[in-house]
Amino acid sequence: MVELFNFNYVKFRGDFMKAIILSGGNGTRLYPITKAISKQLVPVYDKPMIYYPLSTVMLTGIKDVLIITNPEYVELYRNLLKDGSHIGINIQYAIQTEPRGLADAFIVGERFIDGDKSMLILGDNIFYGQGFGAMLRKAASLEKGAVIFGYYVKDPRPYGVVEFDEQGNVISIEEKPERPKSNYAIPGLYFYDEKVVEFAKSLKPSARGELEITDLNRKYLEIGELKVELFGRGFTWLDMGTYDGLLEAANFVETIQKRQGFYIGCIEEVAFRMGYIDREQLYKLGKEMEKTDYGRYLMDLANGVRE
Ligand code: G1P
Repeated sequence: MVELFNFNYVKFRGDFMKAIILSGGNGTRLYPITKAISKQLVPVYDKPMIYYPLSTVMLTGIKDVLIITNPEYVELYRNLLKDGSHIGINIQYAIQTEPRGLADAFIVGERFIDGDKSMLILGDNIFYGQGFGAMLRKAASLEKGAVIFGYYVKDPRPYGVVEFDEQGNVISIEEKPERPKSNYAIPGLYFYDEKVVEFAKSLKPSARGELEITDLNRKYLEIGELKVELFGRGFTWLDMGTYDGLLEAANFVETIQKRQGFYIGCIEEVAFRMGYIDREQLYKLGKEMEKTDYGRYLMDLANGVRE
């Protein structure tokens, strides 16, 4: 296997941490696109949106995944991803009847988490950059507390925003502030210890009627257990929840894939490189889609092209 990918997964045991992908919500910011379909199933260039966060979970080394979605969409996700065994992971599904906020994921997912540590990723966030796998695995090896991230953006107002002092300590976090205290937005990627379920249950709904992830993070901040890692300017984080975000992400994926020939968010490729499936299984998955570039990409990988 090539250095290029630097998949240092052997030393990391991800099986003590669970991952939740939140794919709920009404997607009203994407209407009419999402009137009849779940936002996180909408195509982003050549694959459904959820492939991107799912590939991030897999890159972390976590094999137990819960997808939370609305009752009317759960079968669609099951049709797409099944129980995950074809890509070497275990996928389960849970229903969120109403969008009660991001932190509600830990209440819906309590039985799935079953006292373990957990990672939460939003179904409409895409991450891409060198060294990401190592960052993920470091965050996932947390002993205690929470690890979240900060990313410099021109306009942080639509996001959670983190403020630092001169030594780099976190002073405050605010949800969608009108006057942000920094340009560091908090992406939809969070790692927590076992306390997260109890903390989520203690939250009160915000003015918009949701259990806010920012309030949950504040709980960890208050007890001195919140760590914020910064992504550098060479890193890409996009939020696909608006028309522009969706198109920008699709253009970004197309640009990189065409230029380099390496795919972004390719769950079958990650499964292969993480050692979850072998060449033969990868080839079979590609063969099922051989009329597409995507399918042929998988078959090429299985045949040793791009190694
Ligand atoms: C949510 C969180 C916010 C975070 C953002 C990332 O916002 O509340 O803190 O920065 O996801 O995408 P929402 O999608 O609810 O607007």
